[in-house]
Amino acid sequence: MSASHQGLHFNPHVAALPPYNAGTNVAIARAASGMQDIARLASNENPEGCSPKVMQALASSAFEPWRYADPACGALRAALAARLGVDAAQIVVGNGSEEMIAAVSRAMLVPGNQVLTVVPSFGLHEIEPLALGATVVKLPMTARFGFDLDALERAMAAVPRMVFLSSPWNPVGPALSHADLQRVLRAVQPGSLLVLDEAYFEYADPGSVDGLEMLKTSGLPFVVLRTFSKAYGLAGLRVGYAVCSDAEIARVMGSAKTPFNVNAAAQLAAVAALEDDAWMRASVARLRTERARVAQAIKVMGLRVADSQTNFLFFECRSDSAEQAAALLRQGIIVKAWREAGYERFMRATIGSTQDNDRLLAALAALNPAPRA
Ligand SMILES: Cc1ncc(COP(=O)(O)O)c(C=O)c1O
Repeated sequence: MSASHQGLHFNPHVAALPPYNAGTNVAIARAASGMQDIARLASNENPEGCSPKVMQALASSAFEPWRYADPACGALRAALAARLGVDAAQIVVGNGSEEMIAAVSRAMLVPGNQVLTVVPSFGLHEIEPLALGATVVKLPMTARFGFDLDALERAMAAVPRMVFLSSPWNPVGPALSHADLQRVLRAVQPGSLLVLDEAYFEYADPGSVDGLEMLKTSGLPFVVLRTFSKAYGLAGLRVGYAVCSDAEIARVMGSAKTPFNVNAAAQLAAVAALEDDAWMRASVARLRTERARVAQAIKVMGLRVADSQTNFLFFECRSDSAEQAAALLRQGIIVKAWREAGYERFMRATIGSTQDNDRLLAALAALNPAPRA
C-alpha cells in the first residue's frame, strides 16, 4: 500500500487502512445466483422493516427535504434524553453510530496512542483509531466464545487511551454479564475512556445488562453507542447516537463531526420510531424466538454456535467459511464469512425471515455434512 500517488502524498495512516468488510450487495448476489429473491443475511438488518409510524412521518408535511435539517438534532436528543434519563447535552447524534465511532476516535486520539479492543470485532473499532495513527491491541475471544476478562484486565492496566467493547458483541453474539461488566469497570484506569458499543442492546434477553444504566452510576468517564439501524429497522436512513458521561465529552465529539451530519428524514424517522417502541419490542420478541430455532438447527448439524444476544449467529463451519459463503451466494444467500486471522472457518448470519432462515439452514446442512464415524 503506497502513501503516495502521482506525486501526491496521502495521509499514510489512511492509505494503509485495511478495507471495511461491508459485504456483498444484492446486485452481485443476483448476478452470481441468477435469482431475484435474495436472502440478505449479512448486514444485521431487521427483516420486518420498520414501524408504520415511521413511514407516516416521512409522508407527512413535517418532512421538508428542501430545508437543512436541525444540526443539533434537538427534537431527537430531547426524546432520547427523556427516555434514557440523561441530559440532552450528553447526547451526540450521528449519521449512523458508525459516525460516532469516528467522532470519539477523532475527539480522543493522536498518533501513537494505544487503543484496546477484542478480536473478532466490529471493523470500525479498529479502522477509525488506525486512521488517526493510533495502535490497536486486539484480545482474542476465549475458546468458548467469551470475553477474555483476565486478558482485558491485564491490558487495561497499561492505560490505553480508549477501550472499545461491543456488548452484545458483534460478531460473536454474547453480552457481558453484570459481574463481567463490573470487572471491566473496575479495571478502567484514570486516563482511559471506555466506549461501550450497544448497537444490539434491544435484542438482549429480558433481564440482561443495561450498560448505560451501570455506567451512569459508575463515576467513570464513558461513551455508550446505540443505533436505530438494527431493532428499529432504520439502517438505510443512517441514525445512531452517543451518550456521554458528561457534556464536555459530547461537546468535543460534536466538534469532530460534520455540522449537518444527520439528514431530515433520519431525524423525523428516529423520533417516530422511538414513539412506537411497542412495534420494536414486538419485532424483537419474534426475532428472539426465531434466533433460538435457527441456533438449535445449526447445533443439530454438529456445528459450534456462540450464544447470541443479538440478531445474528456466529458459528464455526466445517471448512473455510469464505468458500462456504461463495457457495451460498450462488444459491442467492448473502452471509458474512469472517476474515480476521484465526477465524477463517467462522461465519456470521443475520436472523432473517423464517423463509430466508430455512433457505440458509438447508444450504448449510448440505455444505457441512457430519463427518463419517
Ligand atoms: C457493533 C456495531 N457498532 C456500530 C455499528 C454501526 O451501525 P450504524 O452505523 O448503522 O448505526 C454496527 C453495524 O453493524 C455494529 O455492528
